[in-house]
Amino acid sequence: MAQALIAYYSRAGENYVGGKIRRLEVGSAKVAAQMLHGLTGADLFEIKQAEPYSDDHMTCIEEAKRDLEADARPALSSYPESLDGYDTIYLAYPNYWGTMPMAVWAFLEHFDFTGKAIRPLCTNEGSGMGRSESDIRRLYPGALLGEGLSIIGGEVHRARPAIKRWVTES
Ligand SMILES: Cc1cc2nc3c(=O)[nH]c(=O)nc-3n(C[C@H](O)[C@H](O)[C@H](O)COP(=O)(O)O)c2cc1C
Repeated sequence: MAQALIAYYSRAGENYVGGKIRRLEVGSAKVAAQMLHGLTGADLFEIKQAEPYSDDHMTCIEEAKRDLEADARPALSSYPESLDGYDTIYLAYPNYWGTMPMAVWAFLEHFDFTGKAIRPLCTNEGSGMGRSESDIRRLYPGALLGEGLSIIGGEVHRARPAIKRWVTES
């Protein structure tokens, strides 16, 4: 039977939340991914860079900008062996400079998502999904791209009802 996978990228540590720098024990996209897991029972996979960005917010901002401008694909520490058994991939990630972190591009390009449903969830501080949906569509014109869900990172702990509606109604 076909199943769903939740693949997420998230970063704990110093982050800009609600207008100030705060230290997060668990990143916002990870909190959202865990809620999704609780609601759907889907498998969870963390998209992790082999060399994570800095814990320091401003350094991380610069590292992520450098990778975006270089169109880099940071090495990941692991991949799921196969996506063959999954028909739906929930993809949760923060908005980095208007799109997905480059590690998420590396994940997407490692597999073929043609014919699979991709359901993007993006945490952010106000830019919404940015251009991430059009970037995914450009990468996989043959994927069934579902309507995205944007969540403000600082409000993620109150997002369960919105995530539930998104899972069941869209
Ligand atoms: C490198 C970097 C770039 C970011 N760029 C944006 C942006 O362009 N627009 C936006 O609304 N938020 C931006 N943010 C804020 C994050 O999207 C937001 O804090 C998100 O909730 C972080 O998720 P996480 O805790 O799971 O990593 C950026 C954060 C970082 C670290």
